[in-house]
Amino acid sequence: KAATLDNTMGLPCRAERFIAATTHEEIRTALVMAADDAVPLNIVGGASNLILAPHLPGITLQVACDDWWWEESDDQTVLVYAQAGLSWHALATACVERGWWGIENLALIPGHVGAAPIQNIGAYGVELADVLEAVHVMHCDDGREAVFTRDDCEFAYRDSIFKRALAGRVVVTQVVLRLSRSPSPRVGYGDLAQRVSVHPEVREIFDAVCAVRREKLPDPTVLGNAGSFFTNPVLEATQAERLLQEYPVMPHFPQPDGSVKLAAGWLIERCGFKGTRWGAFGVHERQALVLVHLGGGDRQELLALADHIRDTVYQTFGVALEREPRLMG
Ligand code: EPU
Repeated sequence: KAATLDNTMGLPCRAERFIAATTHEEIRTALVMAADDAVPLNIVGGASNLILAPHLPGITLQVACDDWWWEESDDQTVLVYAQAGLSWHALATACVERGWWGIENLALIPGHVGAAPIQNIGAYGVELADVLEAVHVMHCDDGREAVFTRDDCEFAYRDSIFKRALAGRVVVTQVVLRLSRSPSPRVGYGDLAQRVSVHPEVREIFDAVCAVRREKLPDPTVLGNAGSFFTNPVLEATQAERLLQEYPVMPHFPQPDGSVKLAAGWLIERCGFKGTRWGAFGVHERQALVLVHLGGGDRQELLALADHIRDTVYQTFGVALEREPRLMG
């Protein structure tokens, strides 16, 4: 039946037919309905990385299976199986509580487990791809189930096969992670090392990441947002060098393949946008990469602001920013 679709950006959205599927059979039924009625199928997780249209025609499917379990793999590792509808942060919290290493740097990322592989969630020096063992999916066209290994997923920075060749063609039903029982702290990002002890417990890193995120990123339950609104641009070394001559203080991160990643937030801040308000939307005052919704706005207004930011950054630096959250509807 029709339903209002809550989303972290706080955009008004009405889904024509909303189905929260609690079993694989219910997922399959929703897929068959969309095919039989020849209507669009929108697959949503926690709606934390979506820019939704006011009206979503067709069927909007949310996987609501939210169980998780684990299996001792060997002395050192544990395999964690998590269903797509589970909250990502709830899973991270549960794993940290058991002393398992691997996703503590990915604390407080909004959204559901099922969305995590789609954009290869990443933060504070860790990406999902680092710990992912497999992704279980159901194909939309015929309901068959399949398992993707990490290699099959074609992971890259904020990217995977699920955003490309398989976009809209599979429903993620379950994710399998390989976590470690022995300490493997990754504190090389930013000032994380300064926030924890020399031989940190997994809990310390988790708490430090939560603290940094709470300092910089707006809480979507208080202020509408979809996290980073743009991805960090990756440039050829020569273009990055030219920019660095002009802006020597510009943050830049050389990549293993010789390319250089820039900080989109810095570029946007340099253009004077940080902390500014544009009608119902604004640029967050502590992190310029995050667009915030102050209330009462619509998607058109948001996209107009995003275009304006992108155009200004392009005119200033010659760098084209790409939107990170997905448009739906
Ligand atoms: N910076 C500025 N001004 C700003 C924001 C950032 O100068 O307004 C500079 C910072 O000083 C720093 C650099 O940019 O030198 C990087 O900033 P930060 O550590 O805040 O991370 P980010 O590159 O802006 C990325 C992810 C975040 C993730 C953080 C931490 C993307 C698109 N975003 O942001 O992910 O939490 O790193 O790892 O890669 C998200 O995807 O929604 C998200 C929040």
